[in-house]
Amino acid sequence: MSDIRQILSVAPVVPVITIERLEHAVPLARALVAGGLRVLEITLRTPVALAAIETVRGAVPDAIVGAGTLLRAKDFSAATAAGAQFGVSPGLTAGLAEASRSVDFPLLPGVMTPSELMAAAEMGFDTLKLFPAEQAGGTRMLAAVSGPFRGVVFCPTGGVTPQNASTYLALANVVCVGGSWVAPPDLIKQQNWAAIEGLAAEAMSLRRRQPA
Ligand code: 3PG
Repeated sequence: MSDIRQILSVAPVVPVITIERLEHAVPLARALVAGGLRVLEITLRTPVALAAIETVRGAVPDAIVGAGTLLRAKDFSAATAAGAQFGVSPGLTAGLAEASRSVDFPLLPGVMTPSELMAAAEMGFDTLKLFPAEQAGGTRMLAAVSGPFRGVVFCPTGGVTPQNASTYLALANVVCVGGSWVAPPDLIKQQNWAAIEGLAAEAMSLRRRQPA
C-alpha cells in the first residue's frame, strides 16, 4: 500500500505509540491488531523506536507500520532502513518534503493553519495530519477549512479522545483520527495487552463518514 489516503482508510483510529522497552513492541502491536487497528504509528521519540518498527514489521505481518515524529531529513532514511511503510510528521518543511521524495513510503505531514495547508498543497500533499487538533480548533476548524480546501482530507491528532473521536469522524474531510489513548503508557508498563486489545476494539467500532 503506497498511498497514504489508502493506508489511513484501513481503520478509523491510528494508534500513536511510544515504545520505551523493545520487548513491549510486538505484544502491543499484536493486541492492537487483534482489536482491529492495523495501522500503527510508532513515534521516533525513544532510543528503541527504530528497532521497534523493525521488530513489529517482522513479527506482525497484519500490521501496517509507520514511523512517527519525523522531524529531520535523516529520519526518513532511518525509517526506511527500519522498514516503515508510511511516515508521519508533526509539521512540514521544504527539507522534509524533499526527503520524503527520496524514500518509498508515503508521508502524512502535519499542518495547523490555512497557510500551512496551502504550502502543503504546493508541495503535493492533499492528505494531512491536523496537529495539534484540539488546540488548532478541532472539529470547528476542520469544518471551516472544508470550503476553501476541497479535496483535502485530514487525520486529526492531538487531544482526540474516545469522547470526541466520533465528532471528528463524522466530518466529510476526516479520513481517520490519531491518538495515544489506545496505547496508554500505564497499560503498556503493566503489559496489560488484553485491556489494550479492548481499547482497540472499542476504537474500531467508531463510525466514520468516508470522505468523498
Ligand atoms: C502526539 O504526537 O503525541 C499525538 O498527537 C498524540 O496526541 P494525544 O496523546 O493527545 O492522543
